[in-house]
Amino acid sequence: MKHILVIHGPNLNLLGKREIDIYGKLTLTEINEAVKQKAKELGCQVKIKQSNSEGEIVSFIGEAKDWADALIINPAAYTHTSVAIRDAILAVGIPAIEVHLSNIYQRESFRQKSLVAGVCRGQITGFGPQSYILALEAVATSEWSFVNGG
Ligand code: DQA
Repeated sequence: MKHILVIHGPNLNLLGKREIDIYGKLTLTEINEAVKQKAKELGCQVKIKQSNSEGEIVSFIGEAKDWADALIINPAAYTHTSVAIRDAILAVGIPAIEVHLSNIYQRESFRQKSLVAGVCRGQITGFGPQSYILALEAVATSEWSFVNGG
């Protein structure tokens, strides 16, 4: 069974109240419920974490080393600034998928650059909460190595 760690970055705890026209009405709890349901259907085990702090996200990634076969990460604003999160993904060597609710390439120029994407297997951006579901499917159904150590 594949073990997947889902990480939500800063301000995603405010989903449902925050810029609804961009991020939609679903709360993070509702998105997490959908993620857990989908993981169950796909026969994967998920752990889900959220933090507003860059250092804590780096720690989540480091601690995932012995458990996770894959990371699904929405680094939120840290996408555009964080060398530390990029380095953490490289350090653990766990295949990662970067996800975004909005299409970052349709937005302000500072959002159109991701420091994290270059160390991820792929990026899913712009499908709202479905971005997480698509990422889960990518992990669950891909033939390329998504088994830790494999
Ligand atoms: C986001 C896009 C980021 O630019 C922004 O800072 C977020 C959310 C998204 O999911 O669309 O907080 O990662």
